[in-house]
Amino acid sequence: MDNGSPKIAILGAGVVGMTVAKILQQDLRNVDITILADGFKEDTVSAVAAGIFRPGTSFRGPTKEITKKWIDDSWNFWQDILKTSEAHKAGLMTLGTYIFSKENYHVTRNHLIEDVVPIYRAVDEDELKLCGTGWKYGSYFSTIKIGCDKYLPWVEKSFIENGGKITRQKIDSFASLNSKFNLVFNCTGMGAKTLCNDYDLVPLRGQIVKARVPSLKMAFYGDYDTYIIPGMDGVATLGGVRQYDSYNRAVCKHDAAAILERCYDLLPFLKGAEIVGHKVGLRPHRVPVRVEPEIIDGVKVVHCYGHGGYGVMCAPGTAMEAVKMGYDILKSKSKI
Ligand code: BEZ
Repeated sequence: MDNGSPKIAILGAGVVGMTVAKILQQDLRNVDITILADGFKEDTVSAVAAGIFRPGTSFRGPTKEITKKWIDDSWNFWQDILKTSEAHKAGLMTLGTYIFSKENYHVTRNHLIEDVVPIYRAVDEDELKLCGTGWKYGSYFSTIKIGCDKYLPWVEKSFIENGGKITRQKIDSFASLNSKFNLVFNCTGMGAKTLCNDYDLVPLRGQIVKARVPSLKMAFYGDYDTYIIPGMDGVATLGGVRQYDSYNRAVCKHDAAAILERCYDLLPFLKGAEIVGHKVGLRPHRVPVRVEPEIIDGVKVVHCYGHGGYGVMCAPGTAMEAVKMGYDILKSKSKI
């Protein structure tokens, strides 16, 4: 390695890795960054997720304060793009969202974002009539959606235009990177399970149905992981399931049937919608999400993985913290 600008590797090209790359290029001039990954864009779990900004209670950093900071910083990062003329190309849109329950009013609230989003309020009797029968409680909030089908290609294009390099390669050990890079960001998602031998990281299997519903302009949530989220192209994402420790990447017809039954119960008019696809993704679930520096086999590494189903919405906040840790570890001579 020469003594010029530091050589930085980012492992993983999902939303977390690509957002780390974007933040580094915004901060540093003449930075030499290579993204090493075995899957890009539509191959990533980020591309399966609907990408709505709505954290669940299983999203946790090491402390409540850090979790909240990640959420707030992420919201501001997305708002900054949303204000620009690039918003549409980057896959960002604002989205009114209803969350209904047959059982409990409190599950329709979300203390993590009630002070962040412009509107969060209880629904009235008329709004309850938007869905099928038996829905007794509900809240409405205004949020955003980040479509990774657009965001990942958009950020990759700007990364390459700004001198970034991309290599398709699966990394099996940090030792193989020694002497090639001054700093490595580990954004490998589920890949970190074997790369870091991390027993705390488990797949949380998700499955979704894609349905053509051009008239749908708002998102709807119901009990038991039920959601219906419109897309920019008139195709909505219907979900979902949360299956711990399942590595099954095949579409399960029983899951698809259960998802449709729950979605039809929430919004009966969907029964006429054309089904255009089914997808599965293994969310990398870890409590807490791991944003942490470590020196492994002489390589300065910052981990940023384990976001579960909240990787798209919270990539920026965690990436900002990882990048700060990266600058510190680059400067430090001590062993961590
Ligand atoms: C979800 O958030 O529901 C999800 C995320 C990734 C893959 C599948 C589903």
